[in-house]
Amino acid sequence: MKLTGSAHYALLLLSSLGLSAAENSHLKDDAPCVARSPTSGMYFDLSAISLSPPERKDGKRVNKDDRDESWHARGHDYPANFTLNICSPVLETVEDVVGVDSSRWKNISAYYVHDNKTYSIGQEASDPFFRGRKLVLNYTNGSPCEDDWKTASSNTSIRRKSTIMSFLCDRDALPTQATPSFVGTMDSCTYFFEVRSSAACGGIAVDPNSGGMGPGGVFGVIMLIAVVVYMVGGCAYQRTVMHQRGWRQCPNFSLWAGMFDFVKDMFVILFSSLGNCFRSNRPSRSGYTRAGGDDRGGFISAIGGRGGQGERRDVDAENRLIDQLDEEWDD
Ligand SMILES: *[C@@H]1O[C@H](CO)[C@@H](O)[C@H](O)[C@H]1NC(C)=O
Ligand SMILES: *[C@@H]1O[C@H](CO)[C@@H](O)[C@H](O)[C@H]1NC(C)=O
Ligand SMILES: *[C@@H]1O[C@H](CO)[C@@H](O)[C@H](O)[C@H]1NC(C)=O
Ligand SMILES: *[C@@H]1O[C@H](CO)[C@@H](O)[C@H](O)[C@H]1NC(C)=O
Ligand SMILES: *[C@@H]1O[C@H](CO)[C@@H](O)[C@H](O)[C@H]1NC(C)=O
Repeated sequence: MKLTGSAHYALLLLSSLGLSAAENSHLKDDAPCVARSPTSGMYFDLSAISLSPPERKDGKRVNKDDRDESWHARGHDYPANFTLNICSPVLETVEDVVGVDSSRWKNISAYYVHDNKTYSIGQEASDPFFRGRKLVLNYTNGSPCEDDWKTASSNTSIRRKSTIMSFLCDRDALPTQATPSFVGTMDSCTYFFEVRSSAACGGIAVDPNSGGMGPGGVFGVIMLIAVVVYMVGGCAYQRTVMHQRGWRQCPNFSLWAGMFDFVKDMFVILFSSLGNCFRSNRPSRSGYTRAGGDDRGGFISAIGGRGGQGERRDVDAENRLIDQLDEEWDD
């Protein structure tokens, strides 16, 4: 059916628009501090709770109410409190970190202080990911683990402290607020935290970095939907109520056909006149004879009077009319 053909085409166009939007955001999947849930397809942007160190305030995160402290987690029964940041190094200046080279001090994302000694529990990392339904971020390469530290001088393959954070949705939290809680550590080597934040609630279907669809795109989609509704609804009406078939079931078929004929005739007149200007020494009629060959008729034949007369007369009438138009054109 021709009706469903055009409707299908419009729908195809529509779905391809949506598809390309999804593809674009998929490319941004590995944007820093953004993770995509494989189950819901939603994007989780943790950069809202990623505090920017002063030297990295590149204007990207403007409405961060300039915290000068990183997030804190109480150790409770552990003999230290923790300081950490999400996806970025801690804002505090950390120095003399146990077992970590001084060149890497400024990239430490989580640490604690015990007995006046600073221990790193992980270097900066900014690729959160989903483990099942859990949004997880880990930091590795901290200070050497306690037992390994004693043999570190003689052994190159030492274990280092690391951190695993699990993010929990907290709809009541402020958008830029994160509340990390220390869950535990078994051997003072890997530290486990839960971070409550509204950033973990996700719900962003399209990657925020892509900026979504511009106003032009939105307008285009609305127009497209309007055209689809017009076509489908009009066809359905023409088909069921007016009992039209074939091309005639297209809404306002005669109007569109008439408009098409008019434009076509205008083109014929325009181009043959122009052609005549360039080839002025040739007989003027020869350029127009084709106009009579159009058995469909249209603007010209309608004006020229096309009753029951023969084809020859028809052509003469048209040519007379065109000559008249031509003279006006030359003025
Ligand atoms: C951790 O912080 C709390 C208050 O924020 C404080 O009372 C406690 O003494 C701190 N613990 C350590 C080991 O510093
Ligand atoms: C460490 O920090 C510096 C700036 O302080 C940054 O340029 C560099 O990319 C960071 N390295 C890593 C591995 O994040
Ligand atoms: C920790 O270091 C500060 C100075 O950096 C010093 O005043 C203090 O006595 C030290 N405390 C311990 C327990 O060593
Ligand atoms: C830590 O995160 C990286 C990606 O950032 C991942 O490849 C690795 O498997 C994670 N490790 C653990 C123990 O979760
Ligand atoms: C590293 O430590 C292991 C035991 O933890 C030991 O068996 C091995 O010999 C050490 N390697 C070196 C080079 O000292």
